[in-house]
Amino acid sequence: MASAGIRPAMIALGDSVYHGQVGGGTCAGCHGSDARGTPLGPDLTSGRWLWGDGSPDAIANTIARGVPAPKEHTGVMPPMGGAQLTPVQVRAAAAYVYALSHTGATP
Ligand code: HEC
Repeated sequence: MASAGIRPAMIALGDSVYHGQVGGGTCAGCHGSDARGTPLGPDLTSGRWLWGDGSPDAIANTIARGVPAPKEHTGVMPPMGGAQLTPVQVRAAAAYVYALSHTGATP
């Protein structure tokens, strides 16, 4: 998915997934409702990536697979954060996370 392909509707859907209104997403529980991180999960707004290159594809891969062996946290991230997300919901969540770390450059 090229960044130019991210549409506002995808980001809006991803916001709902992230905050658990759609798909039972649990992201906010570990990454914080503002995505700035908690002791259970890293800040997703910093533009610094522990996994992958920060592209929408890389973020989507991380979300789909989870992180079985975190680098800086003791708990793991289960695939899709433990929820059952559709491929579209995974890509939407990735678009949302991508947009968070690229504020100012509205995709
Ligand atoms: C149970 C806690 C937990 C949940 C739920 C969770 N995560 Fe994570 N997430 C983590 C941990 C732990 C890591 C790995 C951090 C590390 O390597 O130290 C991580 C890593 C990530 C990364 C990679 C960050 C980087 O620096 O490369 C992304 C993106 C991400 N999560 C997005 C999500 C999204 C979107 C959801 C919801 C679908 C979600 N996470 C749900 C705990 C969680």
